[in-house]
Amino acid sequence: MKKIRKAVFPVAGLGTRMLPAAKTVAKEMLTVVDRPLIHYVMAEARAAGIEHFVLVTGRGKTAMEDYFDHHIELQATLEAKKKNEILDQLMADLPKEGEISYVRQMAPLGLGHAVWCAREIIGDEPFAVLLPDMIMDATPGCTRQMIDAYEQTDGGSVVVVEPVPAGMAHQYGIVALENQEGRLNKMTGMVEKPAPGTEPSNLFISGRYILQPEIFEVLNDRKTGAGGEIQLTDAMLKMLSAGSPYYALEYDGKTYDCGDKLGWLRANVAMALQRPDIKGVRAMIETELKR
Ligand code: G1P
Repeated sequence: MKKIRKAVFPVAGLGTRMLPAAKTVAKEMLTVVDRPLIHYVMAEARAAGIEHFVLVTGRGKTAMEDYFDHHIELQATLEAKKKNEILDQLMADLPKEGEISYVRQMAPLGLGHAVWCAREIIGDEPFAVLLPDMIMDATPGCTRQMIDAYEQTDGGSVVVVEPVPAGMAHQYGIVALENQEGRLNKMTGMVEKPAPGTEPSNLFISGRYILQPEIFEVLNDRKTGAGGEIQLTDAMLKMLSAGSPYYALEYDGKTYDCGDKLGWLRANVAMALQRPDIKGVRAMIETELKR
């Protein structure tokens, strides 16, 4: 079984649910406490042993390239001021030279299209996909749990799922399972953005995947689905229907969907509460509620 070495981060989305900020700030660069969203997702992939990071970017997203690069002036200033701890942390957070690639998704044609844009860099090996809207708070991290689960399978594909909040199924991809026993189950189907009341289960695809390279051949068709977009879920379903095994993993952790304002605020509160270096978050919230 081939090791999972590479991960794709589709970061070209316009972020319309995070306007007006997203007009000029890539939504992946919005901060949760003191670091951009993409920082959390990248750290999750690195902790899982991913060696190459492929960011599928678009117009207005170049701040991410600067974020994951050296900043000579800043480094020199921190060094001169002997702020070594901050400097060391900044450097430790960076991927090494050559570990990160950027490819442009030239038109907003959907998640399936974004993943397909990474095909030349991924090549002929299984790979992970991490959607940057989602902060997965877990130990070990969600991607690590997913790779561990993948290693228990027959070399199929793995999709992380979790119970969908009431009334929200039509906003997500929903899976159908052979059995629902334990955390890792074989899938029998999936549907992107089902009409309300038609969802095949209560489990939605929550933004972490291990895919086989054959997905690129299916995505070559450029067939559109829900919302007129080239959907990753449709391509996965096509492979599944042709006999390629797909597994759904209910990971052990908490997900924060930062794709809208309330979810992003919740993530800020949750992440701040966990930070030993930021004191008084709970008291601050209580005070604010009383004002
Ligand atoms: C995408 C996927 C969907 C998944 C969701 C998770 O949808 O197509 O299957 O459930 O991410 O956030 P989008 O959020 O791009 O509409």
